[in-house]
Parts: sequence; structure tokens; C-alpha cells
Amino acid sequence: MDLFEFFNIKKKRINDFMRKLLKNIPFQDSLLVDAMKYGVLLGGKRIRSVLMYILGKIFQVNDNIVDILASSIEFMHAYSLIHDDLPSLDNDKLRRGYDSCYVKFGESTAILAGNALQCLSFNIISNLNSNIISDSKKVKMISELSHYSGISGMCIGQFRDLKFKYEKLKLCELEEIYWYKTGSLINTSVQLVLISSNINNSSVLLALKEYSKNISLAFQIRDDILDFSNDMSCISYHTRYEKYSRSNTFPLVIGLKKSQEKLRKLYSDALQSLKVLSSNHVDITLLKELAYFIIIRNK
Ligand code: IPE
Ligand code: IPE
Ligand code: MG
Ligand code: MG
Repeated sequence: MDLFEFFNIKKKRINDFMRKLLKNIPFQDSLLVDAMKYGVLLGGKRIRSVLMYILGKIFQVNDNIVDILASSIEFMHAYSLIHDDLPSLDNDKLRRGYDSCYVKFGESTAILAGNALQCLSFNIISNLNSNIISDSKKVKMISELSHYSGISGMCIGQFRDLKFKYEKLKLCELEEIYWYKTGSLINTSVQLVLISSNINNSSVLLALKEYSKNISLAFQIRDDILDFSNDMSCISYHTRYEKYSRSNTFPLVIGLKKSQEKLRKLYSDALQSLKVLSSNHVDITLLKELAYFIIIRNK
């Protein structure tokens, strides 16, 4: 099965699973639940989920477990996007081609929907059956998730991204922000599946950390390039204006050509890190294809 087919199957699977999960939370008739569903279910590439199903396939973690772990990551991701679009953060009126959550439901509801999704992200891991995933593994997962989505990860990344919005940063500073704001959650996606597997080969674990570092930086740079490119007719004028006027994006710091070169370098570094896996007889085909998809994606 190639990545395209795998992607479509797993994307449908995770969307169906999350829809069902969100149908079973309390207060279904409230606007708050509507806003949570809106933030999670309306669009989204599910790239983190697909990465997790690929790793589950490689390391023999049952899809029924990956469903929960991937939902946890998608809820955390959806919360981060709902808050990212708020007037006091990026002030973005569009998300995934639709009104952003705060435009549709109002600011206070969007903030609370983000908060509730963040809690749900932890809650569904804690509720995993202890006979299938031990309590100690669950604690480790929640520890990882809270570490990398909080002050040691996404939040500090988001904070610095906003703080230095109009300042010229050095390339290494920008890379560091990208690692925190985007890389940390992608890395956590990898870690959750690895914790649930029984893999303890340290060179394989290190290689996957390197891989996730390379693809997540590539993912955010590709995001910058897409925002920067003139042919992105689907991006609103407002968003384009905002993105062009901020100085801390890759195309503005090193130019478009060098950003493309950087993408290719990250792709080849990602493949390089996978070599350890193939020498351990791991089938890396889908991981390779995913890395390629990340550097060429158009949305
Ligand atoms: C958007 O992430 C924010 C970034 C970290 C660049 P995605 O591009 O994965 O967002 P969706 O979930 O597919 O909309
Ligand atoms: C979003 O980054 C990253 C997080 C929400 C953690 P951006 O602000 O650069 O991404 P878009 O362009 O709004 O998706
Ligand atoms: Mg932002
Ligand atoms: Mg934004």
C-alpha cells in the first residue's frame, strides 16, 4: 500500500473515531461542544495521526490504541489552532478555509473550547484500559504530552513567535522557535506510539527523534513557503498581509531559494536518520514517502 492509499484510509478512520468520541462528551446541546467539534472536525490534514498509524504499523501497536493516541494529539493540535487564531495571538479570521473558531462562535467560547480540548486530550489517555496500556505507560505519555505542549514546548514557541513577530531573528533562533511551536507536538506524536510499543532499542529511538525533528522543521518551512507564495489564492488577503509583514519566516530571513534548499536538505537528513531503522530490518517505505509529502505538499 502506498502512502496515498494509507493516508486516505487512516484519515477517514481518525475522523470517524474522533466524531464518535466527541458525540459522547457531555452537554451536546451546548455551543461549547459545537465549537469543540468545529475546531476538530472541520478540515485538517491529519498528518500527525497518519505518522502515528505508520509507526503503529511498524512497531506493532494496534490501530485501536493508535486511535486514542492520535485523537489525543489532534485535540491538542486543534486547541492550539483555535487559540493561535484568536485576536490576541495571530488574529486570523480563517482556518482550514472556513471562519476561524472565534469568528464563528465568539472569543470567549473559542477560548473555552480550546481549554476543554486540551483537557480532553489528557483525559482520553488516562482512560485507556489499564490491561492494555499499563498505568505507568499512561503516566509517561501524559508527562510527555504535558511537557511538550506547555512551557517546555508549544507554548514557549508560540510566545516567542509572537514576541519576536516584527524583529529580525537569526536563522538558529527561528529554527528554535519552530522546533518549540511545531516540532514539539510532532515529536510527541512519535513518542506516544513508541511508549505504547515495547521498543527499547536506543539507536532506533534516537533515529526516530532525529527523523521527527527534520520533518517537523521541514513541515513548518513548507508552511512558510506556501504562505509566501503568490499562487496561494486560497489564503485570504488579510492572512497574506499578516504573513508578509512579519519578518520571522524562512523566506523572509534567508529567501525563497535558500528555503527550498533547506527543505531538500532536511528531507535528505530525514532519510539519513532512517538508515538506522532499515539496518534494523524496519520497513521505512511509508516514513520515507511521508517525509517527501511534507516537503512538496500544497496545503
Ligand atoms: C498548522 O498545522 C499549523 C502548523 C503547525 C504549521 P497543520 O497544517 O497540520 O494543520 P491542519 O490540521 O492540517 O489544518
Ligand atoms: C501555528 O503556527 C503553530 C501552532 C498553533 C502551535 P502558525 O501561526 O505559523 O500557523 P498557521 O499559519 O496559523 O496555521
Ligand atoms: Mg501563530
Ligand atoms: Mg497562525
